Amino acid sequence: MARASSRLWLVLLSMSVFAVVAKALGYLTATPEAYGFAEQIPVYREHRVWLLLHIVCGVLALTSGTMQLLVLRVRAPAAFHRWTGSVYALSVMGAGIAGLRLALTAWGGIANTVAFGLLAGLWMLATMRAVGAIRQGAAASHRIWIARSFALTLAGVTLRAEVGLFQVLGLSFEEAYHVASWTCWVLNLLAVEWSCSYPGRSRQNALTASA
Ligand code: HEM
Repeated sequence: MARASSRLWLVLLSMSVFAVVAKALGYLTATPEAYGFAEQIPVYREHRVWLLLHIVCGVLALTSGTMQLLVLRVRAPAAFHRWTGSVYALSVMGAGIAGLRLALTAWGGIANTVAFGLLAGLWMLATMRAVGAIRQGAAASHRIWIARSFALTLAGVTLRAEVGLFQVLGLSFEEAYHVASWTCWVLNLLAVEWSCSYPGRSRQNALTASA
């Protein structure tokens, strides 16, 4: 039962990542006028290089991170894990730095600037901690920090899903974007913290870490 639900979770995750990646890649072929986020066209035209860096690295972080999750289950060679992990960490840094720059001009003003700025900072910090931990051979700490990092990467998916959901629930686009700029990453982080502090889980982490 637990195995079936974790498979279902992975299928749903892969489908959501695929949808966001496909939409984001469309941004690389189109002019800013063709973007879905019409409110920000003048800003994106002005900061095109930052936006492109953010999207290319964001897509790489999402795909390499999801690949790690899928492939870890079939015991891939360690070299593959290290190689994909390096692509992931470098992509997070690229997308995070560009995300910090884009946060300054985020739509919706200071509250969204702070939300996206914090998200970008914590995203890079969690990823650096995960890399630092594995370099010191601390596998259990690496697992927890990489779980935090990937939960923040998924904000690229949950933001879009939550803006849509909140609008269906009756909020305007502006209200939905304000709320989702926080919930898209705070809820993901809380879910990871809850899962790490769940007694069964922490025991399992300790067991797999010492294996
Ligand atoms: C997790 C950390 C992330 C941060 C801090 C972040 C930050 C930002 C910011 C500040 C903007 C500009 C929003 C505005 O103008 O109001 C933006 C736009 C965008 N980001 Fe990210 N982002 C993150 C993850 C991702 C990921 C993983 C992707 C994957 C493809 C992505 C794709 C995009 C795209 C396509 C846009 C253009 C606007 C849109 O369609 O929503 N971002 N991001």
